[in-house]
Amino acid sequence: MCGIVAYVGHHDAFPILIKGLQRLEYRGYDSAGVAMLSNGEINLYKKKGKVSDLLEFTKDKDVTGNIGIGHTRWATHGPPNDVNAHPHFSENKKLAIIHNGIIENYASLKAELIKRGHHFESETDTEVLIHLIEDIQEKTGKDLFEAVRIALGEVIGAYAIVILSKDDPHTLIAAKKSSPMVIGIGEDDFYIASDATPIIEYTKNVVYLEDEEIARIDLKDGLKLKTIKNEKIEPYIQELELQLEAIEKGGYDHFMLKEIYEQPRSVQDCMRGRLNIRKGTVALGGIKDYENKILNANRIIIVACGTSWHAGLVGEYLFEDLARIPVEVEYASEFRYRNPIINENDVVIAISQSGETADTIAALELAKSKGATILGVCNVVGSTISRITDAGVYTHAGPEIGVASTKAFTAQVTVLCLMALRLGHLKGVINESDFHRLLIELSSVPEKIENVLENAEYIKEVSAKYKDVSNFLYLGRGYNFPVALEGALKLKEISYIHAEGYPAAEMKHGPIALIDEDMPVIVIATKKGNYEKVVSNIQEVKARNGKVIAIVTKGDETVKKMADYVIEIPEIVEPWSPLLTVIPLQLVSYYIAVMRGCNVDQPRNLAKSVTVE
Ligand code: AGP
Ligand code: GLU
Repeated sequence: MCGIVAYVGHHDAFPILIKGLQRLEYRGYDSAGVAMLSNGEINLYKKKGKVSDLLEFTKDKDVTGNIGIGHTRWATHGPPNDVNAHPHFSENKKLAIIHNGIIENYASLKAELIKRGHHFESETDTEVLIHLIEDIQEKTGKDLFEAVRIALGEVIGAYAIVILSKDDPHTLIAAKKSSPMVIGIGEDDFYIASDATPIIEYTKNVVYLEDEEIARIDLKDGLKLKTIKNEKIEPYIQELELQLEAIEKGGYDHFMLKEIYEQPRSVQDCMRGRLNIRKGTVALGGIKDYENKILNANRIIIVACGTSWHAGLVGEYLFEDLARIPVEVEYASEFRYRNPIINENDVVIAISQSGETADTIAALELAKSKGATILGVCNVVGSTISRITDAGVYTHAGPEIGVASTKAFTAQVTVLCLMALRLGHLKGVINESDFHRLLIELSSVPEKIENVLENAEYIKEVSAKYKDVSNFLYLGRGYNFPVALEGALKLKEISYIHAEGYPAAEMKHGPIALIDEDMPVIVIATKKGNYEKVVSNIQEVKARNGKVIAIVTKGDETVKKMADYVIEIPEIVEPWSPLLTVIPLQLVSYYIAVMRGCNVDQPRNLAKSVTVE
C-alpha cells in the first residue's frame, strides 16, 4: 500500500508531486504529505485525509522547489493522523523520508535509538528508519548513500523509500525491497514512483528497481545503482507501453464505472492474438513451454486473494471440467503459513491484478522453494509476480484504478477460459466440434457483455429499491457460485452493506434462517447451470417472503413469474457464463454505493494493492 512519488529536475516539484499523488491515491488515502527543498530549507506539509485536503492545507504555504518527495498513506503502524502522515524527518531534520512497506524490527531499533538520545514524534516504523540512517551517518561519517545502504542491511521487512536531504539540492536516494518502485528518466530530470502512472506524462523511459537495490539519483551524475551488498548494477532502461488516456476517467463519474464499461474491450484485448476463429486455434505464448508440465502435473494449485481468488475458483471449475486436471484454490495468506505439501510435480498459478500482493508473492516463493513450477496471471506488466514466476500470461485489461476490481476479474477469468480450452483440447478431453463451438462462444463474449451493459438503466432502477437495506444474500451454483461470492464482496467493499455469497444449495444449511421480507437475495439462475435446482432454491426463498432478484438467461419466463425482478443476460455456454453474470452484480454494487453517497473509487479502509501482510 501507500503511494510514493518524487521529483528532481528544473521544473516546480509541487504540481508534479500532487498530480502523481492523485494518480497513486488508489493505493492508500489515510493521509497525504509532501516535502520540498527550497533555498536550503525543507518545507514539509502533511495532512490526514485525501490529497485534496493536503492541497487545501498548502494553499498559503511556500511550495517552491525543484526537488521533492510525496506520499499517500495506508496506515500500518499508528493511526491515520497528521503526525503519522509521511514524510518523516530525522532527528536533526536534515533528512526527510517517504516509505511504503513495514519495518518489522522497528521496535528494537527504536528502543536502541531512544537510548542514543533520539526523540520520535510519530508511532510509525518509518520514522525509526530515517533516524537510524542519520545515526549511522553521524557514527560512521559516511555519505548518505552509504548510510542508507548500511541501515537497510540492519532492517527486516519491506520497503520502498525515497530520501530527501537538506544538504543536497540535486540528489535523491531511493531503495526497495518487496514494495514496487520505478524510476522515470526524463531529458534533464528524474521521477520516482510506486508505479508508472505519475511518470507516463513526462517520460516513457523507466528503470524498475529490483529488490535490495539502492539508487542515487543525481541531476549531474545521473542514475547510479548498487545492491545492499555493495555490488554495482547497470540500470536497465525499458520503454513504457502505458498510454495516458488509460489512466484518466474519460468522462465517467468514477473510475469503477469506466472500468465496468471497458469490459467489452478489455476482454477482447485479453483474447487478441490468442484466440483465432479463422484458424480455429487458441495459443498462449507466455506459457507455451510449460503446457506439457501443466498437462502432466499432479495438480494445479491456484493462489490468490480477494477478487483474484474468486477468479481462481472459476478456474477450478474450468480446469477440472474442460481439461480434467485436479485443482485446488487457496487463499495465499493461509497457504503460506500452513506448511502445505507441495512438490516438483505441482504447478502453482498465482492470480493477481497488481502483481504486488504480499501474501500472493510469499505463497509463490514458498511453492518455488519446494520445487513447484510457478506461473502468474497478472495485469500489471513488469510487476513483482510477473518477474518472479517461471512463466505467465498477462491479462491486458489496462490499468485498473478503482479499488473495487471489475475489469481485472473478467480478464483473469478470460485467461483461465483460454487456458482451460487450450489444455482440454491438447489433452483430447474436448473433441474438435466442442472445441470450435466453445471457441466461437468465447469470441462472442465482448459483444454479449455490451448487451448486458445496455440494461444499465434498468439495473439502476432495481438497485434503487434496495439501497437502504442492511443485508444482502447472493446465491449461485457451479460456475456461478464464485460469481455469487464476487457479487457479495463488491457490495460490501463499496456500499458497506453486509453481504454474503453462498452456493445456492447450502442456503438450507443455515443462511435460510436469515430470510424474511427485508432480505434481498440475488440468485444467478442461468438456463444451463443446474437450472431446475436453482429454481427450487428461488422457491424456497419466496416461500419465506424473501425478495428475489434473479440473473436469468434472456427469455426465461419461469423465473420471471417467481422473482421480484429479473435481469437478463444473453445465452452462453455455462463455462463462459461468469463473464456475463458478474456484470449486473458489478453494476448493482456501483449504483447502490453511489446512491448511498459512498466513495466508490476509494472505499474506506481499503487500498488497491495490498503490499503488506
Ligand atoms: C477487489 O475488489 C479487492 N479490492 C481485493 O479483494 C483484491 O482483489 C485483492 O486485494 C487482490 O489483489 P490483486 O489481484 O492485486 O492481487
Ligand atoms: N508502515 C508505514 C506506515 O504505517 C507505511 C505503510 C504502508 O506502506 O502501507 O506509515
